[in-house]
Amino acid sequence: MKRGTVILAAVMFVGLMAAAAYGIHKTIPAESEVPLPGPYGDSLYSYITGEDSYDQWSLWPGKGRRFKARAPLNIVTTYVNENAFYSISLGKPMVNGSIVVTENYDKSGKLGAIFVMYKIKGYNPSAGDWFWAQYSPEGKTVKAGKVLACIDCHKAKSGNDYIFTADFVK
Ligand code: HEC
Repeated sequence: MKRGTVILAAVMFVGLMAAAAYGIHKTIPAESEVPLPGPYGDSLYSYITGEDSYDQWSLWPGKGRRFKARAPLNIVTTYVNENAFYSISLGKPMVNGSIVVTENYDKSGKLGAIFVMYKIKGYNPSAGDWFWAQYSPEGKTVKAGKVLACIDCHKAKSGNDYIFTADFVK
């Protein structure tokens, strides 16, 4: 082969690899991004307000900001990270690393609490592998972990991956 041909082949090979890597990245969103936090309330909070700030995420598809929610919530805004958004669009139970954040506002429009569901593969297989957390508006961890109160109510939706907002699992 001529030198030019070899160089051209090499350039094409590198291009193909880059395209493949990009393709893989597109299919499994968070795998090559900022490392996910472990199952700890405080590190989850700093992750969702720092490295991957939830106010930059998508809203739950089809839901607006501050909509009237079902009890025990009041007025909510629900955000989904890339992995959760990807799972919802597939209509499949959420993939590892999916995070759903719900801000609950009181009648006067003040933020009352922040509720989080964070999927960690293998964390709690008997209840959908969700890590549950509740934070004060200032970011103090109120509850975190395999919180029975959360699970007991959300298990009514176990066929929908424990999610109430909308039936998305086909
Ligand atoms: C008595 C039932 C009940 C309890 C207890 C409860 N939730 Fe929920 N939760 C709901 C309902 C209903 C919604 C949907 C509100 C809406 O958007 O209409 C919801 C929504 C959510 C959402 C948005 C995703 C979804 O499932 O729709 C998160 C995140 C969440 N709850 C976390 C928690 C956490 C964390 C706890 C425990 C600290 C908790 N919840 C306790 C009933 C409950």
